[in-house]
Amino acid sequence: MNILGHWSDRDRQDYGSRVQTFPHTLAASGLFSDDALATLLDRHPRHLIDVCTMMYDPEFPDRHCTVDPGQTTGSDLVEIAKSGAIWINIREAMNLDPAYSPLLDRCYSDLCERTGQKVRQYNRRGGILISSPAAKVPYHCDPTQTLLWHVRGHKRVFVYPRTEAFLPDEAYEAIVLGERDQDVPYRPEYDQAAQVFDLPDDTLVCWPHTSPHRVENQGYCISMVMECTTRESAVRNGAMYFNGLVRRHLGGSPSWAGAGRASRYTRAICGHALRKLGAHRAHIRDDFVRFRLDPGKPSILAPVPAYIRNF
Ligand SMILES: [Fe+2]
Repeated sequence: MNILGHWSDRDRQDYGSRVQTFPHTLAASGLFSDDALATLLDRHPRHLIDVCTMMYDPEFPDRHCTVDPGQTTGSDLVEIAKSGAIWINIREAMNLDPAYSPLLDRCYSDLCERTGQKVRQYNRRGGILISSPAAKVPYHCDPTQTLLWHVRGHKRVFVYPRTEAFLPDEAYEAIVLGERDQDVPYRPEYDQAAQVFDLPDDTLVCWPHTSPHRVENQGYCISMVMECTTRESAVRNGAMYFNGLVRRHLGGSPSWAGAGRASRYTRAICGHALRKLGAHRAHIRDDFVRFRLDPGKPSILAPVPAYIRNF
């Protein structure tokens, strides 16, 4: 059974260069029902399950903050997600869980067929998102090629141009250098240039690699995020790693947009080599836990003295 329907020649040509939406049939697998997800949550490695809520940060609105789920069962997590303000990411469930991984393989093979791309994709992964009506994902960009397979619930997605104005080179360099997670500084006026999608159930959204985006749920939502490394993402990330080192250690002002194809490839090769050599020591912020789940509280979240995640 195909997961994606027919794509036109135009769809195929435009893939990767503009934002596109397509219907899909992931839900027909039965693997995204509440009962199936509750069972998955109970058997998936606990350290690969992220439970987050949103916190106030003026530069990074709605920044995610880790919540300790304690021994909350899968079915309770699903019920809490329906009414709370939490975001659950069952990381790598699509590639690690034997029930789900054949479905991910079919997603990739369908996508390769529709796009006509025979290029190899590396580091294929897929996470499943269970998120509350009030949940949001802050403005960010992903260094990997990422596709959002929305399954059900009302989800609003904002996608922004991947230009210097919306994603400064320095901000992206900080991500590939490991200085920062995927958050990018955001200003509300950016929304004037956003493409906004109110996703119907069973909709795949694809955007050009590194397009900044954010999400505002309008209801309880189930989605799947698929990611991989492509030739394009590898070249950009290697070149931006190199540019980041030049900017930080040599005082240069390199520009991705201003570089030609040959220069980008050369920089990418140097960047990947320097990364292997450990040329830059990353200082990723610690993952602090600030809440635990407490179903007895109206907010379902109980604050705890901040500590570094150890689960
Ligand atoms: Fe993303």
